[in-house]
Amino acid sequence: MPRILSGIQPSGQPHLGNFLGAMQRHVKNQDQNESFIFLANYHALTTIRDSQKLRDLTRELAIDYLAIGLDPNKITLFRQSDLPEHTELAWIFSCLTSLGLLERCHAWKDAMAKGKKDPSVGLFTYPVLMAADILIYKPNFVPVGKDQKQHVEVARDIAERFNYLYKETFPLPEPDITVEIETIIGTDGEKMSKSYNNTISLFGSDEQLEKEVLSIKTDSTPLEDSKNPKTCNVFKLYSYFANDDEISDLRDKYLTGGFGYGDAKKLLLKKLHTVLDPYREKRVEIAGKLDYVEEVLLDGARRARKVARKTLDEVRVKVGLQ
Ligand code: TYM
Repeated sequence: MPRILSGIQPSGQPHLGNFLGAMQRHVKNQDQNESFIFLANYHALTTIRDSQKLRDLTRELAIDYLAIGLDPNKITLFRQSDLPEHTELAWIFSCLTSLGLLERCHAWKDAMAKGKKDPSVGLFTYPVLMAADILIYKPNFVPVGKDQKQHVEVARDIAERFNYLYKETFPLPEPDITVEIETIIGTDGEKMSKSYNNTISLFGSDEQLEKEVLSIKTDSTPLEDSKNPKTCNVFKLYSYFANDDEISDLRDKYLTGGFGYGDAKKLLLKKLHTVLDPYREKRVEIAGKLDYVEEVLLDGARRARKVARKTLDEVRVKVGLQ
């Protein structure tokens, strides 16, 4: 079975971008892959400075994954911080990564362009830790959204550099990105992102979900006119969750006219409830079994360590630390 590795930051409530671009895909493929999925709480330290909040968000994210159907017998689910092996490998990698490679990363450049005040060294070296997260498991594929593609490419660059310096050690992982869902657009028309305040949350309250859906930006075409489904984010979001008949039905309504964006939003909201409510019910059940959640994470960490430790021991010998 191909091995996959992916991670998500517990830096806020997961949203439909995380769900469609990553989480749902991880779970859908759990029978076809040997999967390692982790909660990237070392990464979240770059933005979260409240200890209890970080602890809570990390646990909540584990509950979210279990609620959407992650089977811990099939997927090794773990907390990144239970594997300090990742950070040790990140240090070793940082010693062979050029500054220029990191300066070219979009996420860093965006943070600078948006005038991020007093950026931390951790934010800058973030892709090196990510390379360690990935390469330590020697995966074949890294299923992510498009925004993480460049970071996977950095991991490949670092692997090549290591292999060149210390002989073949790391197979080059492939980013696995599904074109139709590579970038989910947020309520304001930009990429949906926790840091842009434009998300539709996966497990928000009914009121929150309604507020978020109603706030999706649309153009000013009058109700009676024909509308372009291709450029409408409400239509796009609906199409990720609806079946072919439902999509073509909505397309007809757009093209015919007499159907407003408000009506489309109501339809989207209803669809989201139909798809997400069963997960929400499951989530309540799992949130009542916190000991179980902790057991899943600790067992995941034990399983992950078997692989991570082996790679790290190999690396320590190769670079001369042992
Ligand atoms: P994060 O937490 O920002 O996002 C988690 C996953 O969700 C995807 N995603 C999206 N996909 C489509 N459209 C969107 N609008 C959207 N927003 C987010 C992301 O691409 C990602 O797959 N650095 C990573 C976490 C990480 C990681 C790793 C991932 C740390 N180490 C190793 C893979 C492998 C991040 O911040 O993802």
